Amino acid sequence: MLLRIPATSANLGPGFDCIGMALDLYNYIDFEAVDSPGALSIEICGEGQHSLSKDETNLVYQAFSRVFAGRREPIPGIKFKLINNIPLARGLGSSSAAIIGGILAANFLLAEKLSIEEMLDIALEFEGHPDNIAPALLGGIVLCTANNQGFHYLKMNPPEGIFCTVLIPDYELSTKKARDILPGTVPLKDAVFNIGKMGLLINAINTGNLDLLKEAIDDKLHQPYRCSLIPGLNDLIILAKDSKVLGLAISGAGPSIIIFHKNDDLDEVMLFQNYLLEKGISSRLINLKPVAEGAQLV
Ligand code: HSE
Repeated sequence: MLLRIPATSANLGPGFDCIGMALDLYNYIDFEAVDSPGALSIEICGEGQHSLSKDETNLVYQAFSRVFAGRREPIPGIKFKLINNIPLARGLGSSSAAIIGGILAANFLLAEKLSIEEMLDIALEFEGHPDNIAPALLGGIVLCTANNQGFHYLKMNPPEGIFCTVLIPDYELSTKKARDILPGTVPLKDAVFNIGKMGLLINAINTGNLDLLKEAIDDKLHQPYRCSLIPGLNDLIILAKDSKVLGLAISGAGPSIIIFHKNDDLDEVMLFQNYLLEKGISSRLINLKPVAEGAQLV
């Protein structure tokens, strides 16, 4: 069986830990149950083929085995082939793709006994925040809010006519490092600033009024603190305000930068890459579109 799991971009500027978007860049997991219980074989092609573990510590297998352990069922023998296109540690949801892929493979072997909520809850144990795992599983743009029982999600369809270019710098940044730099508390005025921006962002998504994005995509809760880990980011944020693009933000915890545009602004987008290059930071550009479909068997 072959699973396809999308990359994701979390936060979208003001929605720190609350919103994420599925993108048309995919990891694939080819999986096959084998007769001897507990047996494991993992082959990896593409991103992480030389760095990711191929034993029980592999994240896909950890998520896969967690599903069976939670149900007190024996872990079946399994052969995985991971075809990875999502760059690692760049803010594009590679860990979430692995976690969701492992859970879905397990759920398939369990004849789909798990609900969406159960799968999200298990994934949350690994990731700690839902804004990448929810769009990886559900697709589209997913708003996540906490409630007493766990978290509540709302899926929105991506607006028509929005294109994304992701600038992927040639260095990695671990989510842990990018979270450790954040303060434990923020000024009330910064929280109020983000609430307003988040309202505008949701309105832009739901009405398709993409011109609102320029105003909506600001943030004071995480990006200012992460600037020191992502050289050039602050300048790019300022440059984006005066450019034709719709908006620019850190993708997830970074270091990738996502630029929203209407697909007629590619020359403008290249200026951001050139600006980084002049500062000695090389990066690659990939052009992506938001997708409404989440992880699925193909
Ligand atoms: N919301 C998360 C963060 C995304 O910005 O740290 C990374 O997983």
